[in-house]
Amino acid sequence: MDFIDDELAELKREGLYRELKIIEGEQGNRVRIGGREVILLSSNNYLGLASHPEIKKAAVSAIEKFGCGSGASRLISGSMELHKELEERIASFKKTESAILFNSGYTANLGVLSSICGKGDVIFCDKLNHASIIDGCLLSGAELKRYPHKDIDALERLIKLTPLSPPYIRGGARGGKKRLIVTDGIFSMDGDIAPLKEIVVLAKRYSAILMVDDAHATGVLGKDGRGTGEYFGLNDSIDIIMGTLSKAVGSFGGFVAGRKKLIEFLINKARSFIYTTSLPPSVIASSIAAIDIIERGDNLRDLLWKNVSYLKDGLTNIGFDIMGSESQIIPVFVGDTHRAVEMSQMLLKEGVFVQGIRPPTVPQGKSRLRVTVMATHSKADLDTALASFEKAGKKLEIV
Ligand SMILES: Cc1ncc(COP(=O)(O)O)c(C=O)c1O
Repeated sequence: MDFIDDELAELKREGLYRELKIIEGEQGNRVRIGGREVILLSSNNYLGLASHPEIKKAAVSAIEKFGCGSGASRLISGSMELHKELEERIASFKKTESAILFNSGYTANLGVLSSICGKGDVIFCDKLNHASIIDGCLLSGAELKRYPHKDIDALERLIKLTPLSPPYIRGGARGGKKRLIVTDGIFSMDGDIAPLKEIVVLAKRYSAILMVDDAHATGVLGKDGRGTGEYFGLNDSIDIIMGTLSKAVGSFGGFVAGRKKLIEFLINKARSFIYTTSLPPSVIASSIAAIDIIERGDNLRDLLWKNVSYLKDGLTNIGFDIMGSESQIIPVFVGDTHRAVEMSQMLLKEGVFVQGIRPPTVPQGKSRLRVTVMATHSKADLDTALASFEKAGKKLEIV
């Protein structure tokens, strides 16, 4: 087992060693770390729902009514009324015929990609797609073609270079090989948005199945927060909408929304759906209560987008490169791995918690601080954060 010491030492040498930061108490715009209150700018709890009183109450009453565990996988005896209710609510929120729950967004991506695609099929995947998409592609055994980030011409060239034989029949029916294009809606480490209009054109032109990972867009993007499809007015052109309940929804779990027959297929084929105990009642009830709030509006998205503009303007005015962010995820470019760690530590000392993101999560030389904004940040939170960023940025000669 000496290799463990060697590999850990190497990670430390390269500035790539990772440690857990323990949050004391609940998740909010400010959290306690090591007994100190700090401003949290590293959470995907974008709408602040993870500790919303209405949602906490729903979870507690679900435990009282339905107990703590579901006892079995969905296809054995773990499908409770609450699972069905949440799936119907997700389908209605995403404006699709049907939806299916997974135990996380990660397992949703594994399950859907490895059941829809197999040997002989080809998956076209944006280079900056989330790791769970890559893992799902690898698990499927399909040929994986990664195209440069958001580069539509390169995607088309790749598709043309990959002719399928026998000719693809839409849906891959009766032995036909499939093409599938998969993209994040909002990219998780860059905060930019997929060029969905152009991707839809290519999917139609080349008879490819289109899958969008809406993990960061659900609850955030589009007039009613329904996600990337709503934002572009293209919901009906997406064959597979994948998402998570663990970010803006503030709860836990993953899902896939789409046509009824897609969901029927996944129930029968997706191994990460079939071979695991289903989500517990309290988690399901939290998600339902959160969707109630998101559908009601409650001004949360307006507050979020206002905070996003304020922080982006502030960071840009100081002189930081925010890497073309178009969303609540705002990368602050640093470049060097060690400097990213140093800046994150300096900010924490100042009372601002922002994680440095390093390879392999992002490419070499593109280390950054990944700032995420919440609807519940106050103006004072953002002003304090900006002052700390300016101080740390100047000290490290980034600005
Ligand atoms: C784009 C994207 N897809 C999928 C996931 C996985 O979702 P979950 O955290 O629910 O497993 C994440 C986040 O972790 C993500 O950023």
